[in-house]
Amino acid sequence: MIDVDNYISKLYDNVNKHNIAGLLSLKEGDNVPLLEAAKMVKHNHIGNKCYFRGLIELSNKCRKSCYYCGIRNDNSYVNRYTLNDEDVFEAACYAYENGFGSIAIQAGEDNSKSFVDRIAYLVKEIRRRNNGLSITLSLGEQNPDTYKKWFDAGAERYLLRIETSNRELYQKIHPCNHEHSFDNRVSALTNLKDIGYQLGTGVMIGLPMQNEEMLAEDLIFMKDMNIDMCGMGPFIEHPQTPMSDYCGESIMSLTERLQLTFNMIAVLRIIMPNINIAATTALQAIEDTAREKALNCGANVVMPNITPLKSRLAYKLYNNKPISEDTRDVYSKSLTQRITDAGCVVALWESGSSKHYIERQTTKK
Ligand code: 5AD
Repeated sequence: MIDVDNYISKLYDNVNKHNIAGLLSLKEGDNVPLLEAAKMVKHNHIGNKCYFRGLIELSNKCRKSCYYCGIRNDNSYVNRYTLNDEDVFEAACYAYENGFGSIAIQAGEDNSKSFVDRIAYLVKEIRRRNNGLSITLSLGEQNPDTYKKWFDAGAERYLLRIETSNRELYQKIHPCNHEHSFDNRVSALTNLKDIGYQLGTGVMIGLPMQNEEMLAEDLIFMKDMNIDMCGMGPFIEHPQTPMSDYCGESIMSLTERLQLTFNMIAVLRIIMPNINIAATTALQAIEDTAREKALNCGANVVMPNITPLKSRLAYKLYNNKPISEDTRDVYSKSLTQRITDAGCVVALWESGSSKHYIERQTTKK
């Protein structure tokens, strides 16, 4: 067994692949010192506040066909929808009136001019109606002009997962064509950063053919990119995707993926102490209380789903996605209770900008 404390202390001085991979390989139980260290780092740097991002799943139409994703274009079983403006405004207004510091608008990828213009309109209008409510966009790869247009409209944060920073693995989990290029994904991240967004990225954890070394490199990629936010979660097969065929021996169990995700969150918190890290919904698909556990090993953001219920069921990226049929009020009350029970404080009426971003503004990194 590795000497965990020794590895953790080495990590504070020297972020390298070998140190990180050693910590990532810790099994449930053995990883307790790592998770505790990350919790302490979080408290020391950003306290124990937890921010709410109201998640609005705007549309499940997507031009891409990523091999892992349930809403891939080639999946003809999906009941495709796009929310209308009033549904979006109503959801945003709910978030604002209930003190959620911000919202996140997510959708499959669409590069059409009408979509680009519509997002700019929605962003402007949401901010006008809700006293400058903070908005995160998660709308995939777009050209720099589009990113700039949305930024100027008032979106200040953008989440675009790299999915894996390993070029070969990226190519294996995406169709081999220009639409699914690793280089384009990396340039999109660079463009977003240059425009001035609070930049978020993330990866899937426990993919077939992925190992701890690659995941260690993912964390180093995030550090080198100097990101402000991270959303990462376990890979979970979706039966209507090519990658569901990997179920079986070549992939680790869901519980192993869960522990590995906790280890990833913990190491990321230690190497990037003041970024925002989300306790993602995919965690909860594996274990009901996994998001609370994530909050206790480094995460500080949760994303309550405020998509109107009629559409929520159709936004199915992976199997067993937890979809609450409670009203938003009942849901957010019970979520608040869970977070409080986990020892964190839900920070309402605060936009919860990444502290890392705020400090980056002063040092211009
Ligand atoms: N398992 C886990 N996460 C997934 N995503 C898409 N499909 C899956 C899956 N099968 C994640 C991707 C994407 C985000 C919107 O959802 O990381 O960026």
